[in-house]
Amino acid sequence: MLSRDEERELMAVVESTERLKTGIEGLDELIEGGLIKGDIHLLAGGPGTGKTIFASNLVYNAAKDLALKSVYATFEESAESFRQNMKSIGISFAPLESSNLVSIVDLDAVRGKELESNISLLLAAVKDARANILVVDSLTALLLACETPFELRTFVKSLYRSLKQMKVTTLMTVSLGQNERIGAEAFICDSVMLLENWLDEDRFKTRFMVLKMRGTEHSRKYHSVILTPKLKISNY
Ligand SMILES: Nc1ncnc2c1ncn2[C@@H]1O[C@H](COP(=O)(O)OP(=O)(O)OP(=O)(O)O)[C@@H](O)[C@H]1O
Ligand SMILES: [Mg+2]
Repeated sequence: MLSRDEERELMAVVESTERLKTGIEGLDELIEGGLIKGDIHLLAGGPGTGKTIFASNLVYNAAKDLALKSVYATFEESAESFRQNMKSIGISFAPLESSNLVSIVDLDAVRGKELESNISLLLAAVKDARANILVVDSLTALLLACETPFELRTFVKSLYRSLKQMKVTTLMTVSLGQNERIGAEAFICDSVMLLENWLDEDRFKTRFMVLKMRGTEHSRKYHSVILTPKLKISNY
C-alpha cells in the first residue's frame, strides 16, 4: 500500500510531459520529441532485432549529448560481452563508465538469485549512481523466475511503482519468440515499441513501430530500421 504522500508523488510523475531526446536518428520526430521522462518504456522484439543496439544508442546519446547518467542492467549477456559487442559497432562505454556517466550492472553474474534481490540490486544501483535513465536488458530474463501470470503481473506492477517513485526514465527490453505477442507488461507500462525482422524476398530486414505511448501523438506506421553502425529509423 502506498501512503498518501507517495500516491501524490506518483501522480506528479505520472503527469510529467517533459521529454528525453533519444538522439536516435529518425525516432524523436515520431514521438513528439522524445520519450516522456520518468515513464516506463518497453521495447519488444524477436532475437537479433536490435533491442540491445537501440538501448545502447539511447544511453550513449544521453551521456554524450545531454550529460545524463544511466544504469544499464544486462541480464542476457555478461557485461564484458555487452561492452565488446557494442564497441564493435562504435559504441565505446569504457570512457563513459570512467566518468561515471554509465554504470553497467551485470545481472547475468547473479543469475539464479531471488527475483527480489535482483530488483533490490537494480534499484540500489539507480540510487547510488543518481541515474536519470535505467535500461533493463531484458525484462524477460528478469521475469523468468515468475511461475504464474498472476505473479508476473504483480511483480511488474510493483517494479513499475518503485521506478515511478524514483523518477527514473526506464527502457526495458522484452524478448519475443516467433509469433509470440507481448503479455501483461504491455498494459502496465507507459509505452510499447516493437522491433521486427521480416523477410523481403530472400533477406531479412528490420522494421519498427510504436504500439502505444501514453500522452503522445505517435506514428502508427511501420518504419525501416538500419541497425549498424548507427541505429537509424526511416520511412518504410
Ligand atoms: N558488430 C556488428 N556488425 C554488424 N552487425 C552487427 C554487429 N553487432 C550486431 N549486429 C547486427 O545487429 C543485430 C541486432 O543486434 P542486437 O544485439 O541489438 O539484437 P537484440 O535484439 O538485442 O538480440 P537478442 O535477442 O539476442 O538480445 C544482430 O542480429 C546483427 O545482425
Ligand atoms: Mg540483446
